[in-house]
Amino acid sequence: MAEEKKRIFSGMQPSGLITLGNYLGALNNWTKLQDEYDCLYCIVDMHAITVRQDPAKLRKQAKELLLQYLAVGLDPEKNIIYYQSHVPQHAELGWILNCYTYMGELNRMTQFKDKCAKHADNINGGLYTYPVLMASDILLYQTDLVPVGEDQRQHLEITRDIAGRFNSIYGDTFKMPEVYIGKVGAKIMALQEPTKKMSKSDDNKNNIITLMDDPKEIMNKIKRAMTDSDNEIRFSEDKPGVSNLLGIYCAVTGKTIPEAEREFAGAGYGAFKTAVGEAVVADLEPIQKKVKDLEANKDYLDEIIRSGAEKASRLADRTLTKVHKKIGFPARIR
Ligand code: TYM
Repeated sequence: MAEEKKRIFSGMQPSGLITLGNYLGALNNWTKLQDEYDCLYCIVDMHAITVRQDPAKLRKQAKELLLQYLAVGLDPEKNIIYYQSHVPQHAELGWILNCYTYMGELNRMTQFKDKCAKHADNINGGLYTYPVLMASDILLYQTDLVPVGEDQRQHLEITRDIAGRFNSIYGDTFKMPEVYIGKVGAKIMALQEPTKKMSKSDDNKNNIITLMDDPKEIMNKIKRAMTDSDNEIRFSEDKPGVSNLLGIYCAVTGKTIPEAEREFAGAGYGAFKTAVGEAVVADLEPIQKKVKDLEANKDYLDEIIRSGAEKASRLADRTLTKVHKKIGFPARIR
């Protein structure tokens, strides 16, 4: 009998046009893993409302994210692709897991602290319990592996803590998920401020490259990226701007850092930036074309989303039934 494939779950918030960071840190790895694993790739719209969203924009961004998932090469025949809000079991398990998560643990989350600083006028309960909903996303599907960028590592740790606590009280209920962080592209930095990560919600649009930026915009943004004054192209902690561009170059070309350093030895920053820009454009152009091709195909997209939610829901029910039983909820009469 064929061995069952291990399971992957990962997701992305439709809180803006996704960036080169989201692509290189996550999406690009998702496509590489899709043959080897059974994958669920979710558009986590419920997470996105932890900061205020314009309803029409949120709907549009969720659809754009779906198009981009498909355009980078996620195969809807192989993967379960769906909107989180279509599978209410995420929220249900989220509530249950809230009761097994300590405030002390949530207080330590660095992303919560960052978001509080950024959205001081809207520090809501959802922002605080966000990591619990994320744990629920993962644990609901008995996930083995979670491919994410470096910034999600802490959320994976709390997910494992919650799973471990639940399992130790009730016996084996949840699989213990492992984090998967790629060797390159795991932390793409802001172009103008290379000591902070590239983020889709950045107000300075010169800090980010979105997957849908046109070639001219991409070249301009990379040419304007902050570097330093020593004109040496090498990867080093004290050269965050140059190191970030080298990281981007390697992530899109598949070259290693030493290979890229050799390639650009003696070159000036101008020529280096042109090469990085051209490599990014070459990688993104086919994706952008695919997005445009898919856009008009409403029936095809509707069917992916409908069947994705149906399949995810079926899997989610299995775990939830088990959880209800373990914690002592009365059995449902059907
Ligand atoms: P989100 O939407 O902020 O980001 C989506 C994915 O992109 C990665 N990422 C980056 N990687 C490299 N460099 C960057 N500058 C960069 N910025 C973002 C993120 O690490 C992530 O993998 N909480 C999650 C969404 C989520 C989730 C989940 C992920 C909800 N439930 C369950 C995995 C499993 C988030 O806000 O990602």
